Amino acid sequence: MSDLKKLEDEILASVAAAESEKALEDVRVAALGKKGTVSEQLKGLGKMSPEERKEMGPALNGLKDRVGEAIAQRKEALHEAALEARLASEEVDVTLPVRESALGAGRIHPISQVFDEITAIFGDMGFSVEEGPDIETDYYNFEALNFPEGHPAREMHDTFYFHEKEDGSRPLLRTHTSPVQVRTMEKGKPPFRFIAPGRTFRCDSDQTHTPQFHQVEGLVIDEETNLGHLKWTLETFLGAFFETGKVELRFRPSFFPFTEPSMEVDVRCARSGGEIRIGEGDDWLEILGCGMVHPNVLSASGIDPERYQGFAFGMGIDRLAMLKYGIPDLRAFFEADLRWLKHYGFAALDVPTLDGGVSS
Ligand code: DAH
Repeated sequence: MSDLKKLEDEILASVAAAESEKALEDVRVAALGKKGTVSEQLKGLGKMSPEERKEMGPALNGLKDRVGEAIAQRKEALHEAALEARLASEEVDVTLPVRESALGAGRIHPISQVFDEITAIFGDMGFSVEEGPDIETDYYNFEALNFPEGHPAREMHDTFYFHEKEDGSRPLLRTHTSPVQVRTMEKGKPPFRFIAPGRTFRCDSDQTHTPQFHQVEGLVIDEETNLGHLKWTLETFLGAFFETGKVELRFRPSFFPFTEPSMEVDVRCARSGGEIRIGEGDDWLEILGCGMVHPNVLSASGIDPERYQGFAFGMGIDRLAMLKYGIPDLRAFFEADLRWLKHYGFAALDVPTLDGGVSS
């Protein structure tokens, strides 16, 4: 057997014996690489006589081609075998539950959830949503709402003030969402029907008060709005929010400078062992303030009080959230404790809708 034939048989035998793509690559380098056995032979061609070259040239090139071809075929076969083996060993159990994604692990804060629930319910009743700034002027927070300078009701608000500005004015953190009433009326035309949810601030901190809290304001103004409409609106909202057909409200006379008459509203409830159930029992729980908008507020907002009238209401969102979801301590809302959020929070895709149930 010629040397070339022997070399070819050896290489083809190692190609056939290569059990992995890696081993095959080693065989290729050993034969066809820069210093490979076949390449070395090819390098020798230059030194041969023309006659020898005539004979050895085609023989060596034929060898190189056959070895290359054998390696390519073996490579293809190994690749397929590897794929087969992988398919045979990997099983997909389509009955396994879906792996939890980051989206599934996150939670919506109960306050955000209640914001969305309130918006869904009032949206269905034809209310739009308005917003105002957290940093307010004395004018919008008090003056335009019929709290003149020195009015005693201002003192009940425990206001956070900023430093005095050069012009003598003092910005403040809004103490309620009522300034949005004036801001929205000023830039629009009646009729109005909107809610204004948002952050509010008072210098107060104990088990039932936090310096930052949340309110939702409501305002309806047109030519014939009356107390009956107010009562229906509140009953309908609270029934939908607490998901009970039996909310019962009690209206008590009260005082707010921006409404006349003014009322506080209690809801019937049962208290037992730290639990409060809405719509049952013999107890009452104060839940919101409301009234007919004071003519001075309408005038300050550029609305003719001889022609237009309406009602306003304001309630604490934190309190509504605590009552609905049995959350005992208000301060936990602001502590950003992940364990608490995992327990009381909501899944990101559980968007409240009226047909799906607002809290589902
Ligand atoms: N702004 C009031 C507060 O924070 C709540 C309130 C009471 C709002 C009566 C109203 C209302 O719109 O009519 O104490």
